[in-house]
Amino acid sequence: MMSLLHYFFLVSINGFFLVPAYGGESGDTVRFDLIHKNDPRLQRKPGLGPPTNNMEQMKQHVHYDSQRVQMISRAMKKRRKAEETATDDVIRAPFFSGASVRSGHYLIPLKVGTPPQQLIMIANTASELTWMKCGSNKDEGKQVSFDPTKSSSFQTINCSSTMCTQDLGDLFALGICPMPDSPCKYDYSYGAGQSVLGFFANETLTLQMKSGTEKKMEQFLVGCNEIIEGIEENDAIDGVVGLGYSIYSFAVRGSESFGYKFSYCLVDHFSPENVRSYLVFGETRHPPHMQHTDLVLGKVLTFYGVNVVGISLDGVMLDIPSEVWELRDDGGGTIIDEGSTLTFLAMDAYRPLMDALIKSLTKYTKYEDPRFEFCISVKPGEFNATEVPKLRIHFTGEARMEPPVKNYVIQVDDGVRCLGFQPLPPEGGVSVIGNIMQQNMFWEFDLKTSRLGFAPSSCTDE
Ligand SMILES: *[C@@H]1O[C@H](CO)[C@@H](O)[C@H](O)[C@H]1NC(C)=O
Ligand SMILES: *[C@@H]1O[C@H](CO)[C@@H](O)[C@H](O)[C@H]1NC(C)=O
Ligand SMILES: *[C@@H]1O[C@H](CO)[C@@H](O)[C@H](O)[C@H]1NC(C)=O
Repeated sequence: MMSLLHYFFLVSINGFFLVPAYGGESGDTVRFDLIHKNDPRLQRKPGLGPPTNNMEQMKQHVHYDSQRVQMISRAMKKRRKAEETATDDVIRAPFFSGASVRSGHYLIPLKVGTPPQQLIMIANTASELTWMKCGSNKDEGKQVSFDPTKSSSFQTINCSSTMCTQDLGDLFALGICPMPDSPCKYDYSYGAGQSVLGFFANETLTLQMKSGTEKKMEQFLVGCNEIIEGIEENDAIDGVVGLGYSIYSFAVRGSESFGYKFSYCLVDHFSPENVRSYLVFGETRHPPHMQHTDLVLGKVLTFYGVNVVGISLDGVMLDIPSEVWELRDDGGGTIIDEGSTLTFLAMDAYRPLMDALIKSLTKYTKYEDPRFEFCISVKPGEFNATEVPKLRIHFTGEARMEPPVKNYVIQVDDGVRCLGFQPLPPEGGVSVIGNIMQQNMFWEFDLKTSRLGFAPSSCTDE
């Protein structure tokens, strides 16, 4: 049995799926609108649409973010332990966070099956598997998700196939095979009565090209969830699109005909109508002054790792020990995660940053919020962003990210702003650059050359 690390080792050394087969489709791209969970366009769907209470919403985000961060660090520990003891206990780790539909807040409309069924999925860089809630008999009042019996292209993976016994067996399949043609099942349990049961299948996805034509993505591996237990769900969401780094992920399969490049641009849900968050497969027009740094693939599960070297405020580097930024199997290092709302920092980075920022905000009225260390209450027009120190995150390769002030002094409610950072738990873990911090920037992931490019953007460009 191959451990996950060996698996990634093979992937990165042999590059067996990153074949340099850049065919390109004559400059064409696939573009998705990423819809924020609170987007007014989703109002028709119960459970989605603008929140009734911003503060409540933010509390939820913080809650799910912390769970996510804990799960990442637990999975990393589990993996290390499994490697030491040479067991394969680790292998289910990549699936875990995809199990919770609450993680991640940007939604992708996706056409699945033949004829296509239109689903609303959560974009999740924590998941390598794309899965949906399956079923044909809809209970009264229950949201209709995917019905495999109505799709002619749906092909169940059977449990006697090598795909089930070897390929998926190394990742998350159960290995139970009552009959040779029984479905290849998974049962992901992550403690406290939470589990997701389902089976694997190949299915056809329909992607819309920018040129107007449709492109079929055939034999794409999906998970068909039959039972979800103990996980608080949003009925309006049909599943998860796996954007992690893995041969099975939508990001990798989707970008393979486009030079293994994908990009996205995120805006907050208060943005004007003409501005949309989006995800693109292929080479797209990007803003000027792109900066580039190494993308660390295959080291932090299926996440996208980055090499941060420091943080500065108004040009002065903060005193942060360099070990904080070192990517290790047991934590440390940084990932860029579209599915986390806030930014999580190891305590040795969090403390000096927070102290300096708090100092710069003392002239405002302090506001107590149990979820954040520091918030202020401001009257309309009182907050002056130009007085807040300029935050820069420095990466290897001289790349510097300069987020707008609203990305780190975040508006959590009318007249309430909080410093949008959270400390990692005392036992450590991986620092996370969350989606608010990434807003109003264009992000390009080049999986072939392992490079991450970014630049400020209003997200209006195609
Ligand atoms: C199981 O799947 C494999 C590969 O798709 C196929 O060759 C085989 O015939 C299937 N076996 C059964 C019993 O359906
Ligand atoms: C599913 O797709 C994979 C990858 O294209 C292929 O190797 C496998 O034979 C397919 N299995 C079925 C049952 O369609
Ligand atoms: C904001 O602060 C800057 C620098 O102190 C100052 O020049 C500017 O006039 C202030 N703007 C407002 C609207 O108060």
